[in-house]
Amino acid sequence: MKFDFQGRKVLVTGHTGFKGAWLTLWLKLLGADISGIALEPTDESGAFCAMGISSLCEDIRQDINDFDKVFSIFEKQKPEIVFHLAAQSLVLQSYDQPLETFQTNVIGTANILEACRRFKSVKVIIIVTTDKCYENKEWVFGYREIDRLGGIDPYSGSKAAAEMLVKSYLESFFSVNNKTGLASVRAGNVIGGGDWAENRIVPDCIRALKAGKAIEVRNPSSVRPWQHVLEPLGGYLMLAQKMLENPKRFSGSWNFGPGYEGIRNVKDLVRYLINLWGEGEWENKDLGKKNKPHEAALLTLDISKARNLLLWQPVYSFHKTVDATVSWYKSQSLGENMKIKSIKQIEDYQKFLYSQYSLNTYFQ
Ligand SMILES: NC(=O)c1ccc[n+]([C@@H]2O[C@H](COP(=O)([O-])OP(=O)(O)OC[C@H]3O[C@@H](n4cnc5c(N)ncnc54)[C@H](O)[C@@H]3O)[C@@H](O)[C@H]2O)c1
Repeated sequence: MKFDFQGRKVLVTGHTGFKGAWLTLWLKLLGADISGIALEPTDESGAFCAMGISSLCEDIRQDINDFDKVFSIFEKQKPEIVFHLAAQSLVLQSYDQPLETFQTNVIGTANILEACRRFKSVKVIIIVTTDKCYENKEWVFGYREIDRLGGIDPYSGSKAAAEMLVKSYLESFFSVNNKTGLASVRAGNVIGGGDWAENRIVPDCIRALKAGKAIEVRNPSSVRPWQHVLEPLGGYLMLAQKMLENPKRFSGSWNFGPGYEGIRNVKDLVRYLINLWGEGEWENKDLGKKNKPHEAALLTLDISKARNLLLWQPVYSFHKTVDATVSWYKSQSLGENMKIKSIKQIEDYQKFLYSQYSLNTYFQ
């Protein structure tokens, strides 16, 4: 399978954010005609500005909580494929701003789904949630798509609620009309160049390393499914393409996580990152369970469904994932052209993905 988005009208929400900017660049390389809805980018060094995304799409600033405005954008842009990534995406911020988090992640998502329902040209809808949408039992097994939803912190709870919305819209509307595919996608902890969000481990590390300070690590023993940003995005693209061909078969929920090898604790990630950066140190700032807001200690994803039905699988090792990430930040600190660097990273990744796919014929 090769991606075929040439000339397709695609709407990406959250294109000014980390994952949305990478997705927009990738879609542009595939020849799509893209429009984006999001708030202002929060950081000039972030992926959106560094890659020059504004010039690659119809770049629209719009709060997704305003249904009428969102719908009028649908009427103007006439999207055929919708990737919904816009969200309040940070766990710690969700403790400070629970209402805003639920507003954007639940009502904002409902607005996107409703606009898709009313605007008949939409054929494929992908709603990006998270691995944190599962009720976390601190299991050693990966969560499967059939496992129970839940979420203690407001971010996780809001994404579990978004999942309920997807199920309701799918069963009430889209699976009835049989012409529109609707899927929710649940990825793990995504890392890669151009993320400068507060309280995310890789941006925190790079900020500290650049400032010559020790990296303060809140949860060194927490285990997470680390994956390069291009891994889940490749999965979303593959899923969108399959849904264009067969909306009913590929609708539903999908996990996109790393292989076992990518499931590591935070300490492993930080140590390897320092090693690649060439210098630096870290400090254990674990405050103990009682003195910090709840965050799951152990979280992994079972990706059998995507492996077996989509023939998607992660192609980067843990080391390759961190190598590509650190290489991006190093290039940026050397003042290189980050659009060219990012295009090269996408092209390299795509070659891996295509070759894996053509070898994986077991279920074809
Ligand atoms: N980064 C990760 O590790 C990770 C992991 C799993 C899932 N996700 C999910 O992937 C998606 C993208 O994550 P990210 O890391 O790129 O997040 P990000 O915070 O970098 O970007 C969020 C985007 O959403 C937009 N947005 C926020 N509130 C909005 C509103 N009210 N109206 C319109 N736009 C709004 C922002 O402008 C930005 O473009 C999110 O849905 C997130 O929950 C991220």
